Amino acid sequence: MLKENMKNEKEEKILFVDDEESILDIASEYFQHKGYQVFTAKNGLEAVKILGDKNIDCCFTDINMPEMDGLELAEHIRKTDNTIPVIIMTGYPSLDNTIRTLKNGVVDFLIKPVNLNQMEVCLKRVLRERQLFVENIILKKEMEGKEQLERLNRELLYKVEELNILNKIMSDFTITSSSSDVFKRLVDITIKIIHADEARFYIINKAVKRPFEVTAAISIPNKANKRSADTDKAVEKLIIETVSDEVPLLISENKGARGLPKDILSFMAVPLAIREKVFGVLTACIKKSDIRFTEKDLYYLSFMTNKAAYVIENLALYENIYENLFSTLYAFVKAIEARDPYTQQHSNRVTDIAIVIGKEMGCTSEELDILNFAGHLHDIGKIGIRDAILLKPSSYTEEEYNIIKEHPIIGASIVGQLGLLDSEKQIIKCHHEGFDGTGYPNGLKKEEIPLLARILSVADVYDAISSDRAYRKKMEKNKVIKLIKEGRGTQFDPDVVDTFLKLYDDGVIEKII
Ligand SMILES: [Fe+2]
Repeated sequence: MLKENMKNEKEEKILFVDDEESILDIASEYFQHKGYQVFTAKNGLEAVKILGDKNIDCCFTDINMPEMDGLELAEHIRKTDNTIPVIIMTGYPSLDNTIRTLKNGVVDFLIKPVNLNQMEVCLKRVLRERQLFVENIILKKEMEGKEQLERLNRELLYKVEELNILNKIMSDFTITSSSSDVFKRLVDITIKIIHADEARFYIINKAVKRPFEVTAAISIPNKANKRSADTDKAVEKLIIETVSDEVPLLISENKGARGLPKDILSFMAVPLAIREKVFGVLTACIKKSDIRFTEKDLYYLSFMTNKAAYVIENLALYENIYENLFSTLYAFVKAIEARDPYTQQHSNRVTDIAIVIGKEMGCTSEELDILNFAGHLHDIGKIGIRDAILLKPSSYTEEEYNIIKEHPIIGASIVGQLGLLDSEKQIIKCHHEGFDGTGYPNGLKKEEIPLLARILSVADVYDAISSDRAYRKKMEKNKVIKLIKEGRGTQFDPDVVDTFLKLYDDGVIEKII
């Protein structure tokens, strides 16, 4: 409906419609002289044609004309472009005509005979009004567009924020390595992302009927934060209700309706379900700040517990695979040891010795786990060595020794094929490396050899020479210790040897053998 380009005054197009040619001539001459583009028509039909071809800015029309009169023309203009002002010029305006013209959006009425100055004043006024009208429409559209844009922007920001939070939750959980770690992370993230003052995780399920708090995080820990027995009781009741309802609970503004003491201002409880069975409940409280939990917070909390459940499920699966794998591989080791009566229990003893050294040297529980796994399986590569060589009752030839020397690599590849146990694989591969670079398979030196492999190496050699072998009798203890001391800094890591000797002097090693 809206003509596209608004022209400046000098280029504006005016249409005069009148069946009196003299009027058209006079108006034409006058307004052309004033710099307007003037079009004329002798009746409504001619006018309609011009209106269709030209972007007319204003129309002066007589009422009584043949073919199509002024009122019909006004109606046509209103329907096709209601921004074009129509000015009626008539000799005898009746009330009826006046009403009809006004209905049809006619903006002014001039009584014939029309004075040209009067027409010009009228023209300028209606054009200015039209300009304002058009600008107003454009502005309105712009405003609508702007508001829509702002709304979209707000939605986009909200989505980005939400995605960031969800991403953060995802990445925070990806690095968890045990179930207890998952629960700790759950409460920590609740404080960080939901801005709760307190977050607690409770175990509650078919086996544990009453909520048992396993971990908690408090934004500003102090004595005042300690909860009263009443609060504990009320929270416990809400947790049990949440579990039986199996839906998350949101008390945005606590008015005491659910029996929750007034010191908790806002509260949420979300069940954590593993394979659709509730395992525990995460709770969050606001006690001090002006923030109140919303549906959005409940959504984040539910997302977190879902993610945590998924991680726990995966960990359980992984722990299971790990256990299964270990027992399968260990059965192989037992089979190897069974082939050689002299090496029976060797892996067990090596592992025990390595673990006491590791503990003494301050290894973490994770490192001790690796040592346990790698210790039991360190000679698994011997599975690939023929009995004729492995069980030979005399010393090896160079060729045979070279074959024996392959067992760390074979062992590492057996464990490594499973793709899960990189640290263990490295320890198995390096347990015959020498501290000075004279070991095998890669002749690594000092810190190039993983610490746990350096520990395993001392334990392995100690047990090997202090027990009987097919090709030799066991060595006396003082000779064994002398040999270990001689290897300090050459075959063995001096720190590991020192720790071993201390444990030996304390009688700890003797107890194992
Ligand atoms: Fe070995």
